[in-house]
Order: sequence, then C-alpha cells, then structure tokens
Amino acid sequence: MKECFEKLINERQSCRNFNDLPLAEETLLEIVKSATLCPSACNSQPWKMYVVTSPEKLKETAVALGVNGHNKFLNKAKAFIVLAEKEATLKEGVLFDRKHFVKYDIGELIAYITLKAKSIGVDTCIIGMVNQKLIGPAANLKKGEICNVAVALGYSDSPLREKKRKPMKETVEMV
Ligand SMILES: Cc1cc2nc3c(=O)[nH]c(=O)nc-3n(C[C@H](O)[C@H](O)[C@H](O)COP(=O)(O)O)c2cc1C
Repeated sequence: MKECFEKLINERQSCRNFNDLPLAEETLLEIVKSATLCPSACNSQPWKMYVVTSPEKLKETAVALGVNGHNKFLNKAKAFIVLAEKEATLKEGVLFDRKHFVKYDIGELIAYITLKAKSIGVDTCIIGMVNQKLIGPAANLKKGEICNVAVALGYSDSPLREKKRKPMKETVEMV
C-alpha cells in the first residue's frame, strides 16, 4: 500500500501535452465516483462536478479556461471536470461559516480526482484560470454556482519529470 501511494504521488504530474487517445465515459465515471468519497467540512459536499465531453462543449470550456491566451494546450484535453462551488446551507451555516471551508473542500476533491485518475492511467492538469463569464454557459453551471477551478483530463505524451519543490526546511517545522 505504502509503495503504491508513493508511486502514485510521484507519477502524478500536470499534463500539458495530451495525445489523441480518447477517454472513455466509464473511465470518467469511475474517477468522479471515487472523488465523491473525499472528505468535506461537516460532510457538506459543497460542489457539483460537471463532466464535459461533447466536442462542442469541450471547445467552449477550453476557451473559458484559457484566460489571456494561457492554457492553449487545453484544446487537446479529452474531458474537463468543472468544479462548481455551492452556497452554504442553513444547517451547515449555523455550525460554522462554511464559506471559509468550501475552497478547502474543493481542494480535497481535486486531490481525489487527480490521484484516482493517475491510478487508472489518466493524466490531468488542474486549471485555475477561469473566465467567469464563459464558464457558466460552457459547462452548464446553474444559478448560484461559481467555478474557480477545473481539471483537464486525457492521456499524456510527455515523460515523467523530476518534481521541483521547495526544500522541506522552508515548508515544514517540527515543534
Ligand atoms: C489551484 C491550481 C491552479 C492551477 N492552474 C493551472 C493553470 O491554469 N494552468 C496550468 O498549466 N497549470 C495549473 N496548475 C498546475 C500547477 O502549475 C502545478 O500543479 C504545479 O506547477 C506543480 O507541478 P506538478 O502538478 O506537475 O507536480 C494549477 C494547480 C493548482 C493547484
């Protein structure tokens, strides 16, 4: 188990070079099904995952995630999981102002999506550049939902890269 997890987190890397292999709908469903098991504050699950696969919606979504000419590689993505944030419900709002936690919850969801995808051979790139005006119609978002992040999916044509991370002495302190 430990070795599997180490291999998974080492091999997951952002893919900006998707090849032409198609991505099956059942593979996407397997990924989102696992992602629904991720934790969230108060088990509030304050999200909706819009799985974009139709050719015309893929094009629209790639444009919506390509602010100022960035992320041009997205025109080769085979699917997007667009993550909509939902507003706090009364029950959860009474326990604590859940608005503070939505972004952490979505972060958990992204971790599950990207790691589950890699575990079945699918590559991903998290995309934080979102054109708020375009993403709603592109991904079919409903009233009250906003999207700040999405995941592009497909199969990579790039080799494994060495991870570049800050030294642990900068990011970890034993107290
Ligand atoms: C919230 C978030 C937003 C990101 N937005 C983008 C993006 O718009 N375009 C992109 O190419 N990569 C994006 N990334 C990917 C990061 O650049 C990448 O995860 C980081 O450089 C580490 O590289 P690795 O994923 O290959 O390990 C984003 C990552 C996160 C977590």
